[in-house]
Amino acid sequence: TDPLRLGIAGLGTVGTGVVKIVRQKAELLAARAGRPVAITAVSARTRDKDRGVNLSDYAWEDDPVALATRDDVDVFVELMGGSDGPAKAATEAAIAAGKDVVTANKAMLAHHGQALAKAAESAGSVLRFEAAVAGGIPVIKALTEGLAGNDITRVMGVMNGTCNYILTRMQATGQGYNALFEEADKLGYLEADPNLDVGGIDAGHKLALLSSIAFGTQVNFDAVELEGIQSVTLEDISHAADMGYRIKLLGVAQLTGRGLEQRMSPCLVPASSPLGQLEGGTNMVVLEGDMVEQIVLRGPGAGEGPTASAVMADVMDIARGIRLSTFGQPATELQQAKPARAATP
Ligand code: NAP
Ligand code: HSE
Repeated sequence: TDPLRLGIAGLGTVGTGVVKIVRQKAELLAARAGRPVAITAVSARTRDKDRGVNLSDYAWEDDPVALATRDDVDVFVELMGGSDGPAKAATEAAIAAGKDVVTANKAMLAHHGQALAKAAESAGSVLRFEAAVAGGIPVIKALTEGLAGNDITRVMGVMNGTCNYILTRMQATGQGYNALFEEADKLGYLEADPNLDVGGIDAGHKLALLSSIAFGTQVNFDAVELEGIQSVTLEDISHAADMGYRIKLLGVAQLTGRGLEQRMSPCLVPASSPLGQLEGGTNMVVLEGDMVEQIVLRGPGAGEGPTASAVMADVMDIARGIRLSTFGQPATELQQAKPARAATP
């Protein structure tokens, strides 16, 4: 059987994780997909860098656009990051060349997801992004497949590993969040621009993507009411603890009489609740639907292994011949309203 041939652009935390899985689990993947999954070409900024993985079997491209359009690439795996620039240019080129695309790039999708999805639909390409939301938790699959018979009424949760790590470590160690950056960096959690993490922007991107899938509407990141954790102090955390609460960067998207409301902001949650007990880089996503009432998903939200696991979920679907794009449902024009500031779930 013909192998599914991957071209991977970006060999950082997530990209090297994907290379390791494809190399180390080749037989298992082939058995599960019914065909081999192989990497044919890779790209990154710097060629001469020890990445802890053997890349000598693969063709090298300096230019991600050249990689994305190679004849021996079936799926362009975009793991560079950045909402515009090379990630967007190469994704557009891959789609124009009729390639399928798997990406972990929530920033690009939050800003350009709808246009990319439209282009992919016209080109007959599949566009998938399980890794873009909540790291290793298969939340997009849960929404698009497991809960396909539900009207989703609310999506909420903790969706940024860096912020949860920093907030829980502030509580445990008494260190300020600046000092904790380095620890989060070593764990591979941080965005290239960590302001996206602590500013709540990365989590806002994820909420906008989930809302769009959950409620079948256009991705509208600008409609997310956003507040980061930069102004959360050790005193805030300590006072909250005294009252039996924890501070979490919590996202909520829900349908109300005013339309779709999306909010990402630091919230007080009871210390003894599942959300209150969420430690380190763990994420939790709560999905509410008319048939199931509530589903709670919990798992690692960032880092090499968990994120590469989610990338492979999409790759394996494509290898099995599943030709569904994530933004597969008709996008409707739902009214989007700014949430009332006082509302707390
Ligand atoms: P990273 O460690 O910073 O790696 C980025 C990779 O992209 C590097 O290999 C870099 O090359 C390459 N790159 C950057 N700009 C490039 C350019 N202009 N041309 C060619 N290659 C370029 O990032 P990461 O953490 O793996 O994240 C990658 C993507 O996954 C991002 O969209 C991120 O938001 C998303 N994501 C990350 C996580 C996580 O836990 N880390 C989780 C979910 C989603 P060099 O190595 O040569 O510099
Ligand atoms: N920087 C992100 C986080 C990576 O900390 O959650 C996972 O999307």
